[in-house]
Amino acid sequence: MATLQAIKYNDGQLEILDQLLLPESCIFIPICNVEDAWAAIREMKVRGAPAIAIVGCLSLAVELRKLAAPETKEELCRFVKEKLDYLVTSRPTAVNTQLAAEACVKLCARLTDNTSVDTTAAKEDIIKHLEAMLADDIADNLAIGEHGARDITKKNATKDKLRILTHCNTGSLATAGYGTALGVIRSLHKANKLDQVYCTETRPYNQGSRLTAFELVYEKIPATLVCDSMAAAAMKQFKIDAVIVGADRVAANGDTANKIGTYQLAVLAKSHDVLFYVAAPFSSIDFQIPNGQSIPIEERPHSEMTHTGSTRTAAAGINCWNPGFDVTPAELITGGIITEKGVFKPDQLAPHQSN
Ligand SMILES: *[C@@H]1O[C@H](CO)[C@@H](O)[C@H](O)[C@H]1NC(C)=O
Repeated sequence: MATLQAIKYNDGQLEILDQLLLPESCIFIPICNVEDAWAAIREMKVRGAPAIAIVGCLSLAVELRKLAAPETKEELCRFVKEKLDYLVTSRPTAVNTQLAAEACVKLCARLTDNTSVDTTAAKEDIIKHLEAMLADDIADNLAIGEHGARDITKKNATKDKLRILTHCNTGSLATAGYGTALGVIRSLHKANKLDQVYCTETRPYNQGSRLTAFELVYEKIPATLVCDSMAAAAMKQFKIDAVIVGADRVAANGDTANKIGTYQLAVLAKSHDVLFYVAAPFSSIDFQIPNGQSIPIEERPHSEMTHTGSTRTAAAGINCWNPGFDVTPAELITGGIITEKGVFKPDQLAPHQSN
């Protein structure tokens, strides 16, 4: 069965699957401009670090296709930069949108300097660059899946089939398709190497039970849902072979910001002698940031903790703390960081920066 497609883009028309309505209904909503994308990202109709960068950039492509050619390349580039700066403000922790914006601004500068490129051609080049992100991300994820599955299989050579624990959603719903951590799990399954995947509920917003469980059931991958509080017991009882998670931002030393609850899984994995892997495109690595302490951590609305849908589930008046992410120190990432360029120990990332 084809993997779930959550971002649909055709000839300047962009639609995304509204993830807030999952798993009850599968409804696609149109994204007609950058403002629509910003709101959909902020409200988490689309989430996941690679997916929000792609939806943001594609929404700009939609606008550029409708835009009458500006008078000058400078004017065109000012327009593009303004829109990108705005998109970057939608959510602070993931680095992908910022890096995509920087790459696009660099392209604008190159096109502006190139006297053999006129304004119309420059606009076409920028659109092509933005539209390529969708296919590029799927290709990267397939490579991440292959590298990860090979590494995990090699390190567990005596075992016929593996038991994997994952957290949050890193699949087709978090990327352009296939997924990062869930892509590795898909690749293990395809290679007939997966016994069972355990997915956490991922409180407070339940991306695991709503989204990952939805994808796993959809593709008939053998899976079991556990609450976040059951992770230690599950590692012990089911003899988990590896934990694989995604990343919102990896610092230069390998410290990794990911969905809240990732850090506790890494600590538990160490106690149970379970390999701990991070799977992410190379573009999630922020070489500007030396370590995890400088990664900004978004605080989310308290209503995510106090309510399920519109039903209050916590005592009225209680104070809440709701960080969206936590930082896992590099030394706990014992399996490695799985990227499209290969699997690296956290301290081996830097030499591969510009390859
Ligand atoms: C300038 O643009 C032309 C036409 O697209 C291209 O062939 C050439 O390589 C560009 N020059 C530079 C320096 O990028």
